[in-house]
Amino acid sequence: MQPGPELPAWLGFEMGDKERFLEKCGELAEYALSWDSPTVINHFDCDGITSGSIAVEALRRAGKKPKVLTLKKIDDDYINVNLVGKNELLFVDFGGTCKSIDQIKDAAIIDHHQTEGTKTLQANPQLHGFDGGREISSAGVAHLVFGVREDLAIVGAVGDVQAPLVSLNREILHEAEKKGTVEARLDLKAYGKNTRSLAVFLTYSDEPYLPGITGNEEASVALLEQAGLKNKPFETTYNDLPENEKSALRAAIVEYLSRSGFAGVSADLFGECYILKNQPEKSELRDASEFSTLLNACGRNGRFEVGMGVCLGEPGALDTAKEILAQHKKNLQLGIQYASKHTTDMGEFYLIDGRGQISDTIIGVVAGMIGTYRRDKPILALSIDEEGKIKVSGRAKEHMIKEGINLGMALKASAGAIGGVGGGHRQAAGASLPIGKTEEFLVLFGEKLCEQKTAQAP
Ligand code: C5P
Repeated sequence: MQPGPELPAWLGFEMGDKERFLEKCGELAEYALSWDSPTVINHFDCDGITSGSIAVEALRRAGKKPKVLTLKKIDDDYINVNLVGKNELLFVDFGGTCKSIDQIKDAAIIDHHQTEGTKTLQANPQLHGFDGGREISSAGVAHLVFGVREDLAIVGAVGDVQAPLVSLNREILHEAEKKGTVEARLDLKAYGKNTRSLAVFLTYSDEPYLPGITGNEEASVALLEQAGLKNKPFETTYNDLPENEKSALRAAIVEYLSRSGFAGVSADLFGECYILKNQPEKSELRDASEFSTLLNACGRNGRFEVGMGVCLGEPGALDTAKEILAQHKKNLQLGIQYASKHTTDMGEFYLIDGRGQISDTIIGVVAGMIGTYRRDKPILALSIDEEGKIKVSGRAKEHMIKEGINLGMALKASAGAIGGVGGGHRQAAGASLPIGKTEEFLVLFGEKLCEQKTAQAP
């Protein structure tokens, strides 16, 4: 396929104050690099692991020996009990909403979530008119702070569903292209273009989820036969195919989706892909999207150190990460199967009630996958976390954002009103709820979405 389009950096965005933001990034670098014994405290998802790794690599290059603490979530209670009194703490990919960090003597925050600001030094694009949900990830911010590993900045952004990269992300991409470390091209987005046989590639395609094909090897093989690839299902990878056969396969998938009543899924089938040219060709790390999937698998299965080991090139980390990913993919398949049969139309949104069935570590990913074919309203998914609280994950599509939907704000308000906490981005957000208030929360959340759309309506 052709190389990716040149998107104007301002596309759909108000211009932010880049100069002031970069000044803040510089200030933060100088401060953190002056510490003797820093601790990087980072979020556990792909963007948290990549941004944390960028910070660790930069601190190591400056001769420091940073400690690392990776957490699933952070809040003022956790900080008050565990961190106030400690020093030289760099919060990465969260912390921007935690006022208690202001009580820590030497601390700084690299974040990109919606925030009202902190007294603590914070490099956050949201404070300078940029949308951290779309224009830059925490890994991108960490790269702008420390000036290293633009490849990880791209992986973090892709992991946070910010592809195709625009605005500040695109500037980082251009920098990487100039250095020759990354190449952007339009292609199929599914996992395993370099590393999976065609039949496995289709059967395990979960992002995008292909209704009728995902999870069904027979149907995958039949589709490959229709595409004229009869002898190739188990021997060949997608990237082994000559261009005319790749094209025939893409056409067969689109034709199948349209024939099966899922034409809308085709919108998620293709997209700009980012090739990391400093990684081996037959490796999971060659494609930013596959790299991000691997890190998400590590993070969401509590193996943060393995994910960071992969980013920092530690020996053996990649093999362990691949084992974790294999199990993670199996869990996702089960999660999707359950979710696809237990999705309720709540009027303003779809609800997947995965409580007791789908782990809180993958519920957000499952919500995103169901969103690939239920495209007309936001998806809200429920699970139970390890403390017994209700974990909520929300996902929305771009056209809903244009209608005024801001899931981060809606969840902050509706969860907050019943004694929970919520936040995140317009299109991907989450919340944690006390038990026994779910029904009330769901009503408030639906009302909030309605208000947001009404406020935006012409
Ligand atoms: O957990 P999940 O992947 O659904 O979270 C989506 C986004 O919402 C993440 O960026 C996460 O950091 C954010 N979030 C938040 N506050 C919460 C829960 C999630 O900002 N209480």
